[in-house]
Amino acid sequence: MVLSRILLFSVFLIIVGSEKIRYDSFKGCPISDKEYKETIKRNTTFWCVNEIEPCDPDEGRRVDGSCNNLKHPTRGATHTPFYRILPAEYDTDDGKFEPRKASDGGPLPLARYLRTSFLAEGKVPDPVFTQLLTHILAFVVSDVLSLQDTVNYIVWRPYCCLPKGKTDPNCVPNEVPVDDPVHRFSGIRCFNMTRPESFQSMGCIKNGTVPERIISSTPMMDLSQMYGNLYENLAKNGRKFEKGLLKYEVEDDRIWPPSTKTKVDLCLLNQKPVEKRCHATPEDGSNTLLGINLFSIWFWRNHNRMANALSELNPAWDDEKLFYTARDINIATWTQIVYYELLPLLMGRDNLIRDSVIMSTPGFRDLYNEEKLPQIALEYPLVTRWFHVMQEGALKLYDQDGYYLRDFPIVNLTLRTGWLAVDDNIDYITQGSFRQACGKADYIVDPDMSEVGLGPHQRANDVLTSDLAKNRYFGFKPYVAYREWCFGRSYDDFDDLKEAFDPERLELLKERYKSVEDIDLMAGLWLEKHVEGGYIPETLYCIMSEQLIRFVVSDRHWYERPNRPHAFTADQLLEIRKASVSRLLCDVGDKVSEIQPQGFVRAGPKNKICSCEEIPKIDLSAWKDSGCKNHCHYRNRK
Ligand SMILES: *[C@@H]1O[C@H](CO)[C@@H](O)[C@H](O)[C@H]1NC(C)=O
Ligand SMILES: *[C@@H]1O[C@H](CO)[C@@H](O)[C@H](O)[C@H]1NC(C)=O
Ligand SMILES: *[C@@H]1O[C@H](CO)[C@@H](O)[C@H](O)[C@H]1NC(C)=O
Ligand SMILES: *[C@@H]1O[C@H](CO)[C@@H](O)[C@H](O)[C@H]1NC(C)=O
Repeated sequence: MVLSRILLFSVFLIIVGSEKIRYDSFKGCPISDKEYKETIKRNTTFWCVNEIEPCDPDEGRRVDGSCNNLKHPTRGATHTPFYRILPAEYDTDDGKFEPRKASDGGPLPLARYLRTSFLAEGKVPDPVFTQLLTHILAFVVSDVLSLQDTVNYIVWRPYCCLPKGKTDPNCVPNEVPVDDPVHRFSGIRCFNMTRPESFQSMGCIKNGTVPERIISSTPMMDLSQMYGNLYENLAKNGRKFEKGLLKYEVEDDRIWPPSTKTKVDLCLLNQKPVEKRCHATPEDGSNTLLGINLFSIWFWRNHNRMANALSELNPAWDDEKLFYTARDINIATWTQIVYYELLPLLMGRDNLIRDSVIMSTPGFRDLYNEEKLPQIALEYPLVTRWFHVMQEGALKLYDQDGYYLRDFPIVNLTLRTGWLAVDDNIDYITQGSFRQACGKADYIVDPDMSEVGLGPHQRANDVLTSDLAKNRYFGFKPYVAYREWCFGRSYDDFDDLKEAFDPERLELLKERYKSVEDIDLMAGLWLEKHVEGGYIPETLYCIMSEQLIRFVVSDRHWYERPNRPHAFTADQLLEIRKASVSRLLCDVGDKVSEIQPQGFVRAGPKNKICSCEEIPKIDLSAWKDSGCKNHCHYRNRK
């Protein structure tokens, strides 16, 4: 009797255990069968419903990001809402949500007009940083964003600058003034742009409410670009289901992510028939901007390098255990490079230690707070677009001995992975990435960014004008509101802003905006003074730190935690601490046998190019498993 009860009970558990629970993706609460059927009828299930298996507190990080927060299982998953640092501010006069008006009731100055006023065009090499820095910054943001808002105006709505665009409320192109310094000669009066997709536009919540941005990536540092956001996609386009490996192809002795076999070709700029490679990774995220494509290839190879090493160390481990351990180390390596190598250079190491973004010691740390939901601030991906001022347009190609070969425009390499695999291009572009300076963080922008933007995809575009315009469509409060939030004082007139801007920049702001309340957040960042001990504007520092700390405290699977499921041992964490971008390139870069120890910093007397033998390595023997003799499982769903 008792036995049958136990049996019955465990059968019950198994059934319940495998039954998915359906949640409203916006609200995060379970929905009824009836509500679910309605979403099927409206064809909104994909965006508006999260179907997830019940949480298991001992399970590792899920690919779909669910169950990160055990009280709110969908938070951290794909298609879940952002939070706002400050409440939205829109013009809602017509019952719509349009960019806010200026304080005198008129429209704010045109985005393109402000961009051409505030940022000059030209090229100044940065004295400190290399191209690798701007490449990885694109990759950092792509971990928490998806590309749909760009694809929207290139592919889905290619008519925003045509008469048809006037009838589509999703088209919000940027007007180019008649006296524009460049386009007074070309006759181009319009740049394509679309309104950001939202829970409203996807049909998940009622129209006529504050727009809530929707994206596909999971809002965590978890290499979404490679592992995807859905188990189905990872199984289809990622895992080889053999020795923990990701699928790969070998071409000309180089290892690549698999190339897509379908007719849908996202590599719109591949010059066929010569350029064929188009990478089919779980989210197609590795065929976008060049920097993202490069780091995707490198971390893809890095996963397999580790899976192979772990499999040799622990022959008893099964595919599942090898895969999830390699992924865990790969994500930790990635996060370690961003937090402890990249950000201290840009934001100042002492600043970050003071603000608890990083630690000064190499041991564990645990700041986990279940009350903080794993989410991204809507402001974060927008403000990081400031880094476009550091983007260099002309990539220099170098050979292995450091001899300069030729230039290639980075804007021609968007949605074009095929180019990397021909003529040894990836070898030369990799060498260039740590030998060439990026653009200086000043008031000067590379003309390819501000006049070409997406390259041959568009007749003309200005990435930075779009940045400012998007700032408005996200409904951000004025720059001074954010500065006030950051520094705890108010700014009522232009004189109050003397502490934030050089006299010349302040005068420029005064000429273009009638009131301090009118200054756009993005425009303020463009002209603001830089943080002491770092290279980025003060308010950018402040908003970025808010998000960087949020990642640490809200992520139950944060790699520095000693008591997360499958946590690293102290020895393993010490190995992760050795990660560096230069080591990554030595391990998986093409023909990299020499590099400077600090790959984000230009080579020089204090950072001499040396043999890879001298760059510290992660010793994977810390993962040798003496306790595991036969079958060793990793607790994660397939
Ligand atoms: C249903 O939604 C999916 C995902 O958004 C989309 O790909 C598909 O085309 C839609 N089908 C119809 C019939 O509208
Ligand atoms: C909101 O309006 C858009 C059209 O602009 C439509 O596609 C969408 O389905 C609407 N959302 C809801 C929830 O009705
Ligand atoms: C880059 O694209 C432009 C068109 O936008 C084209 O005119 C130019 O020749 C291309 N440059 C290279 C090096 O392919
Ligand atoms: C707008 O987008 C379409 C489709 O991508 C493109 O053909 C057109 O050149 C773009 N317009 C401008 C002004 O760039």
